[in-house]
Amino acid sequence: MIICKWQQTDNLQVSQLEKECFSDCWSLEMIVSAYNNPNFLGYVAKVEDLVIGYIAVNYCLDEAEINLIAVSENYRRKNVATMLIDTMINELKTLSVEKIFLEVRRSNKGAQALYEKLGFTYIGVRSKYYQGVEDALLMCKVIKE
Ligand SMILES: CC(C)(COP(=O)(O)OP(=O)(O)OC[C@H]1O[C@@H](n2cnc3c(N)ncnc32)[C@H](O)[C@@H]1OP(=O)(O)O)[C@@H](O)C(=O)NCCC(=O)NCCS
Repeated sequence: MIICKWQQTDNLQVSQLEKECFSDCWSLEMIVSAYNNPNFLGYVAKVEDLVIGYIAVNYCLDEAEINLIAVSENYRRKNVATMLIDTMINELKTLSVEKIFLEVRRSNKGAQALYEKLGFTYIGVRSKYYQGVEDALLMCKVIKE
């Protein structure tokens, strides 16, 4: 497994994996549009040429937000997401980003366990943020050394 910079040619595979991982997935058009944003930064995890995980952030000045993160079901609990986040944090530090934010569904206990393990803390709640039904928990990690 290797972690590499997310290239334009990865967009299609990412969107296929996104469909497998989320009921309210981003479409290919949304992914392409995010990729084309100058403040986009992304990494993919690959086994041979197959994308098995991805992370994308949008960053501005000293803050970044994780917009996309998922790992293919067959490759979970093997530290792939941890490696993607660590790689991203290392690059964000070189860009003088100091804080990373994310939103996670209240019901998504697995992702919350991952973020807690990596030092993210809860900073707020967006009530009924998802489809007007489920809360989003806001988390943050300070990465400034
Ligand atoms: C959440 C997700 C990205 C985690 O990816 P992953 O590669 O399996 O995570 P890691 O292997 O790096 O996990 C590291 C640690 O986080 C915690 N963790 C991760 N997934 C967990 C789960 N489902 N339940 C409990 N703890 C979990 C564990 O402490 C784990 O360490 P361990 O395996 O030694 O116990 C993956 O489950 C996924 O893609 N889920 C569907 C999409 C999604 O929910 N994305 C997040 C949106 S906010």
